[in-house]
Amino acid sequence: MKSEERWAKSQENRFKSAMPLAVLIAAPLVPNARLAARDAVERALVDLDRKLGPSKVDTSEAGRAAHANDESEAIGRLPDAVVYAHGQRDIAAVLAIAEKHDVPVTPRAGGTGRTGGAVPAAGGIVLATHGMSNILEISKTDLLAVVEPGVITADLHAAAEAEGLFYPPDPNSLKTCMMGGNVAENAGGPRAFKYGVTREYVLGLEACLIGGQVLRTGKRTIKGVTGYDVTALFVGSEGTLGVFSEITLRLVPKPDELATVLALFSDVRQAADAVQRIIANGLVPRCLELMDGPTLDAIRKQSVPVDARANSMLLIEVDGLALDTTIERLADALTHGGQAIDVVAAQDAAQRDRLWEARRQLSPATRKLAKYKLSEDIAVPRSRLVDLFVEVDRIGQETGVRHLTYGHAGDGNLHVNFLWNDEADKPAVDRAIDLLMHATVGMGGTLTGEHGVGILKAAYLPIEQSRELIGLQQQIKGVFDPKGLLNPGKIFPTGHTSC
Ligand code: LAC
Ligand code: ZN
Repeated sequence: MKSEERWAKSQENRFKSAMPLAVLIAAPLVPNARLAARDAVERALVDLDRKLGPSKVDTSEAGRAAHANDESEAIGRLPDAVVYAHGQRDIAAVLAIAEKHDVPVTPRAGGTGRTGGAVPAAGGIVLATHGMSNILEISKTDLLAVVEPGVITADLHAAAEAEGLFYPPDPNSLKTCMMGGNVAENAGGPRAFKYGVTREYVLGLEACLIGGQVLRTGKRTIKGVTGYDVTALFVGSEGTLGVFSEITLRLVPKPDELATVLALFSDVRQAADAVQRIIANGLVPRCLELMDGPTLDAIRKQSVPVDARANSMLLIEVDGLALDTTIERLADALTHGGQAIDVVAAQDAAQRDRLWEARRQLSPATRKLAKYKLSEDIAVPRSRLVDLFVEVDRIGQETGVRHLTYGHAGDGNLHVNFLWNDEADKPAVDRAIDLLMHATVGMGGTLTGEHGVGILKAAYLPIEQSRELIGLQQQIKGVFDPKGLLNPGKIFPTGHTSC
């Protein structure tokens, strides 16, 4: 019997009495990543126990099941073990042992990803870094922070703001996601319109490679052009090139003032048109979020009252100094030049917080609207926003699939969600996603603005990128990880994937 068959057989037996776990290996979303041989895993486990001690190596079913998923629909294989790293030495030790025995490793921080980046596609070892949660430094003079990968993003926000500083990237999972994952996925968020995404803030990294080598890349300075930008290559590499043990991040001064404005529209295309006008007028709000009609219903269900006439809303946030003039110019673009039915400023911090809480909860809230949901995060050039909404409606009509859209319209980055209740409708959903991906790329856009390719979007990569470009990236991967052991089954279309 081949080692893969042996592995599958052993999994079958292991999970006969545990149905939820059996689902993990029976589901159709597992890519064709090479699995570890059972005897290799056993030898690696012996080495891990010897090197790290049993308290850091978890082979319990509960521990392994708790590290088999992320917050996406991607379904992987149950890992053979979870290792809880307490420091760089632990990470390097795991990567050395994994390489010695040919066992796949999936790095994981908060496990809040949306495309399966932290989902073990080939079983093996999950290398959990959530225990490394120290903020090592915040420097007011160098305007930077040095953090471990398990720092929760909101904790970094709070620590920076306590010093009068600001870390802008704010993925909506900020209360649970962690910096290691934010860097690996190059996370975005609502404030990206003015401040950019995680990439703009990563100055340097300490990264451990498969085999256990430790590299320090980048710098503590804003300027610095020595050699290739290896730091930038690591950012957004989705855990396929290295595992971060320390991250140096640029900070900026905390903005003085903040104002939140809501603009209501009777039609989503008018809202998209308003976004294009705001940008063309040279305004730079820090957030420019759009919600369509069905999304507003989900907001209303969270007990946030929204004018019944509204069938779309822009949630706009401006920060800086002299905001009155900015707000006037904004209102002008929304009402005089535009078609807003109402423009209102958030009255106080409590109302603002309520609104943002409802906005940040949209992903779980919309998940409750149907039995199944798939959420995309395509991005198009801002000039094509109105066209995108026309296209999404057309796709909905052609396929009959229910959909709702919200997201970071200022970045042209929208979460188009497809909802369905009956498994028989899945082929229509697949068709809708395929049409959406082609339309997006046809407009000069991209498959994923902020969530990464992971498992879920790998099959679509050739729609956007040439065979040559994919091949070049695979060669780069081969330089870092010749045996393909680090986070296999991600980014590149390896075989059977589904979205
Ligand atoms: C959001 C997540 C899904 O914007 O990216 O809500
Ligand atoms: Zn988002």
